[in-house]
Amino acid sequence: MAQNNIESTLHENRHFAPCESFYKSSALNPKNLDALYARAAEDHEAFWGELAKQELDWITPFTKVLDDSNAPFYKWFADGQLNVSYNCLDRQLKENAEKTAIIFEGEPGDVQHITYRMLHQKVCTFANALKNQGIRKGDRVIIYMPMITEAVVAMQACARIGAIHSVVFGGFSAEALKDRVEDTQAKLVITADGGHRGGKIIGLKNTADQALSKGCKSVETVIVFKRCGNDINMQDGRDIWWHDAEQDQSSECEPEPMNACDPLFLLYTSGSTGKPKGIQHSSAGYLLNAITTMRWVFDIQAKDVFWCTADVGWITGHTYVAYGPLAVGATMIIYEGVPTIPDAGRFWDVCARHHVSIFYTAPTAIRALMKAGDDIPQRYDLSHLRLLGTVGEPINPEAWMWYHRVIGQERCPIVDTWWQTETGAHMIAPVPAVTVTKPGSCTRALPGIDAAVVNEQGEALGPNQGGFLVIRKPWPSMIQTIWGDDQRYKDTYWPYFDGKYYLAGDSARQDEEGYFWIMGRIDDVLNVSGHRLGTMEIESALVAHEAVAEAAVVGKPHDVKGESVFAYVVLKGNRPEGGVDEEMTNVLRAWVADQIGPIAKPDEIRYSDNLPKTRSGKIMRRLLRTIAKGEEITQDTSTLENEGILLQLQGKA
Ligand code: PRX
Repeated sequence: MAQNNIESTLHENRHFAPCESFYKSSALNPKNLDALYARAAEDHEAFWGELAKQELDWITPFTKVLDDSNAPFYKWFADGQLNVSYNCLDRQLKENAEKTAIIFEGEPGDVQHITYRMLHQKVCTFANALKNQGIRKGDRVIIYMPMITEAVVAMQACARIGAIHSVVFGGFSAEALKDRVEDTQAKLVITADGGHRGGKIIGLKNTADQALSKGCKSVETVIVFKRCGNDINMQDGRDIWWHDAEQDQSSECEPEPMNACDPLFLLYTSGSTGKPKGIQHSSAGYLLNAITTMRWVFDIQAKDVFWCTADVGWITGHTYVAYGPLAVGATMIIYEGVPTIPDAGRFWDVCARHHVSIFYTAPTAIRALMKAGDDIPQRYDLSHLRLLGTVGEPINPEAWMWYHRVIGQERCPIVDTWWQTETGAHMIAPVPAVTVTKPGSCTRALPGIDAAVVNEQGEALGPNQGGFLVIRKPWPSMIQTIWGDDQRYKDTYWPYFDGKYYLAGDSARQDEEGYFWIMGRIDDVLNVSGHRLGTMEIESALVAHEAVAEAAVVGKPHDVKGESVFAYVVLKGNRPEGGVDEEMTNVLRAWVADQIGPIAKPDEIRYSDNLPKTRSGKIMRRLLRTIAKGEEITQDTSTLENEGILLQLQGKA
């Protein structure tokens, strides 16, 4: 296994009790939360079956909750039929048609309020446009959009007609987009001319053109939404404007009956080997946990204005922007841009102007905004906030305390939510009316989620012993498989414990009260600003450059991003003098941005004649991590082929 003797260095004893206002109004108070835990413990399947009946509208009710006959390919509610878009939109029309579903704010400041009725019409019209372009149930559609309402419309429209969407983050490069198009064999790509980000226009259509020029034979049509009016090329016979595609389309579209286990979407994420994995999610099970966590963790109420700042290119933007909030009839914010335009007050300005009551973001954003100073948030009226959330990486207690004190004004509980692309929804998180929180801990597993910390034999570990974070029973929103690669799904997530426990890939410990503390990944995956990046992916990108012979990438702790990318590179020619070559470093950084996306750019590159390897040829990553941190080397380096390169790697020769 990847790691022995996992040790934690974090000791945190502060406690924060839930606040009284939650006690009265919340769907979950201590009494009914206990009842949920008790029911789940008594009968795991019945527990989820009851919730699925209560929370979802079915076309054909299911008769069996869980089919585990082909584990680990678990099937939830397999013979039931429903439509996810119907569950998000149509069922709100009865009582909430005129309620605002989306408050959209563009980075330049344009604002739109979209009611459930309007959203329903937009989705139906666009769903008909997709059908008119020949898209049918089961076809794959790539969505490469800015963070605008139409990205959600496109996702919902796919769900309505049963097409499987795969959203590619707008910050990804042509190369990354091409890989995803080819892996999904998508027939259609939905993009925009551009999007506003960081005060610039990001030319999405131009990048899509580059991707498509590299292969992507499966793509027949590209639909282009006009957002920025920037110059683009439209290819005859392939490209069509969104508004033209919608011409003459009806605003009524019958939702396609889908089997509960039909895939709703694919979302690519990094693993420990080079190729990103297409995580496949189901329709019914996925939506069920999106809903239950909106209620349990976010305590969503009719009056709330909910804002999850994640881009729809990530799982958080799927579950807590495109699906969860709509499925519970909430009002949500969609903001197009970055938190620092025009200044570091933008998030707080949006919260104040739109009366945001629930705010959910990533520790990296919190740390960046904390650095900007307390006086910035203090300029805004944040009195509507009642609940704060974080996701994506461990939050350091200092950032947690700042969030609590300056943003939450010591009034708002903080829900630190642990989950993954693969889990579909929150797994370990506080319940705000009940859970005493501790800065830096995601607290306890939610009802029906059997999370544990175990050793290599799968035995549960005692308090404060670090081990592997696993989930011991299947849950509805779990990953179904890796698209096109069942074997890799088994090998990655079910390799130990007789294939019975889901291996999350994180190390963790539980304290004396059973609270979970996530310690980091056990594989070669970095977490940069809350985004997963495979070291292998970045290494493959580096060695694809003609000047590079070998590369090794490790994470280095970073006070805003969590981790930064640190690369060791062996060039084909001579090593640059003193191991420094700024020009080459700039070239390689731009190259990686081109191959993967700007988020993967190495922050530092160090050149050496060789990489440290064991005699069996394995790169000594732990040693490279130590060196990147500038720490003293305590590892045994006697097995190194060439001890002399240590000084080069340390930047001392
Ligand atoms: O290492 C954990 C970390 O992010 C990983 C999942 O990344 P991704 O699939 O991109 O999904 C991110 C958003 C759900 C996990 O394996 N992670 C996520 N949330 C937390 C976390 N680490 C600590 N605390 C969290 N709350």
